Amino acid sequence: MVQHTTIVGLREAVRSARAAGRKVGFVATMGYLHAGHIALCEAARRECDFVVVSIFVNPLQFAPNEDFSRYPRDLERDLGMLAAAGVDAAFTPSVEEMYPEPMATRVSLPTLSHTLEGAVRPTHFEGVATVVLKLFSIVQPDIAYFGQKDGQQVAIVRRMVQDLRLPLEVHVVPTVREMDGVAMSSRNVYLDAPARLSARRLLQSLHAGRALLEAGERRCAAVEDAMAQVLRVDPSVQMDYAAVVDADTLEPRDAVAGHVLVAVAARVGGTRLLDNLMLQVDAHGVRDLLSAP
Ligand code: PAJ
Repeated sequence: MVQHTTIVGLREAVRSARAAGRKVGFVATMGYLHAGHIALCEAARRECDFVVVSIFVNPLQFAPNEDFSRYPRDLERDLGMLAAAGVDAAFTPSVEEMYPEPMATRVSLPTLSHTLEGAVRPTHFEGVATVVLKLFSIVQPDIAYFGQKDGQQVAIVRRMVQDLRLPLEVHVVPTVREMDGVAMSSRNVYLDAPARLSARRLLQSLHAGRALLEAGERRCAAVEDAMAQVLRVDPSVQMDYAAVVDADTLEPRDAVAGHVLVAVAARVGGTRLLDNLMLQVDAHGVRDLLSAP
């Protein structure tokens, strides 16, 4: 694996891979890698011949009161994990390399960015879409891999690719979980033991929503109430939302049908946690939209 810290160097490596007829896969990360990130790299390894992974804690997607400066970082460990996963190129630019002067450009998808996470983090997805488009333009991958765990991010990246007719495919990889069911996240290191126990409520809440759907309930509000109740019983969990929305447009619905994102977010011991299910709900019942490879 070769580490590149400059845009020029990375572009040159991708250009030679492509000239040799290799299909380029790309995984964008903010580092402090875990098995969820590695699952994305493995999917890329299976489907592509040259795998690029970026590690860049993107200041544009953090609000001033958020955890940019204390976001966990461990580059040496990350590079070891990527090499072991068979990644070809690690792109690890500095903030000065990515943003040598303040960016005057912003990519925004207002209708998808201001609900759910966006209601709590109003500038977050503009920062995400802007850096992801910039990374796509630097790497120019054939396939880019994103995790289901960040369901709203998936909808936004997919829509940006569709709207701008970017010449790449977006593949989504199912959420990788810890043994206790908590979705893997770089931010899980912030959780102490009691918070870690409370973090399980998120998946329990999603399961309660799914169970109601499987029992035939189709009113969104009823499913959302059942999910919220599971979060509310635990005083250390401060719910931000428990929502059932259209998986593509993220719009709320009265009745559950088609591709839906069942999503929860809560603060547990000061740490914001997210989790979701992507489901296909129809007359035949309830199915996962994605299944593990
Ligand atoms: P980060 O949180 O590091 O996540 C990088 C990628 O890994 C995202 O696509 C995310 O959905 C995926 N991922 C994280 N946890 C996962 C899990 N438990 N199972 C499966 N996939 C998981 O998301 C970002 O970084 C940033 O917003 C980024 C896209 C890099 C732009 O800065």
